[in-house]
Amino acid sequence: MSEEKKLFKVTIDNITVEVEPGTSILQAARKIGGDVAPPAMCYYTKLKGSGGKCRTCLVEVAAGSTAGRTNVMDGMIVKNITSSRVVDARNGVVEFLLLNHPLDCPVCDQAGECHLQDLGYEHGKEGTRYEFSRRTFKKHDLGPYIQLHMTRCILCYRCVFTADQVTNKRVHGVLDRGDHAEIATYIEKSLDNDFIGNVIDVCPVGALTDKTFRFKNRVWFTKPVDAHCSCDKCSGKVQLWMRGDEVLRVTARKDEWGEVHDWICNTCRFERKKVSDWTIEGPTKVSRHSVISQGHYVGLKKPNETLPEVMGGRQPKLLMDIHSVSDVNSVELSALPGPATSKTFEKKEP
Ligand code: SF4
Ligand code: FES
Repeated sequence: MSEEKKLFKVTIDNITVEVEPGTSILQAARKIGGDVAPPAMCYYTKLKGSGGKCRTCLVEVAAGSTAGRTNVMDGMIVKNITSSRVVDARNGVVEFLLLNHPLDCPVCDQAGECHLQDLGYEHGKEGTRYEFSRRTFKKHDLGPYIQLHMTRCILCYRCVFTADQVTNKRVHGVLDRGDHAEIATYIEKSLDNDFIGNVIDVCPVGALTDKTFRFKNRVWFTKPVDAHCSCDKCSGKVQLWMRGDEVLRVTARKDEWGEVHDWICNTCRFERKKVSDWTIEGPTKVSRHSVISQGHYVGLKKPNETLPEVMGGRQPKLLMDIHSVSDVNSVELSALPGPATSKTFEKKEP
């Protein structure tokens, strides 16, 4: 007879859950979900050894502790958002993370899906107390696929663990230590071994971005759809970021905590950029909390057409189908240099 596993009871922000021994506080909090789950900038469920670098997930367990690296104990009482000390300390951590960050969100490809941007929005201060100039770095070219902006990096090590654990060879790492620590390949090498593109998806900030998508669009203007293909290297389950019929970017699908479901290969990510390469499953469910949800009307219910009703069943007369009209009074609409006024359309005498 199999012995029943003893579960641990843990109370986080006054909500009690039962979890298996060996579960981290963060995972227990994620089981409750919502705001009770602390933010995590370096911890990543799928990456062994991750967590413990950024301190954003700190919580109060009698004494302070990071939730990603500390396992629960039976009867443990944890405070996250119910502790003003935690909120205060987290504000301080965010201030630290932003000390050297360039805050170049207006030109950063990660804007709209950057965890540091969200964290700054929720916990950041409007000013900085830092009086020194921010760190700058020598530019490193990481090859044809991945763009590195070292000034944005928060040294979470996720990309290093990903290269170690997901690809067959790691050629980059964190060189030097302390204030000089930086992501680099030492002797200029390109990051192009298969599956290395996943470093883009795990990077919580815009330090590693997709060169094939660079400056092509703002993420909230694109339409994310779930799609798949039969790939012989990976699961082929991806998300396409589309604008009209154009596939601007391919990424792995992520869960509600922003973590990748299935790692995808470089071919799917960087080479398959035609709609015909994919079977589209439907629009991705985007959390309403995300800026990406703006302008996407999934599950929209169209109101009933009321005009025929009020017009006794008659259809309204179509006055002008703007889609088929390209000129008015011989003025080509698409060639107008600026806002049109009635003067623009005045008939010129022959
Ligand atoms: S480049 Fe991105 S993933 Fe890599 S350590 Fe820096 S912030 Fe983390
Ligand atoms: S997510 Fe816990 S220390 Fe970074």
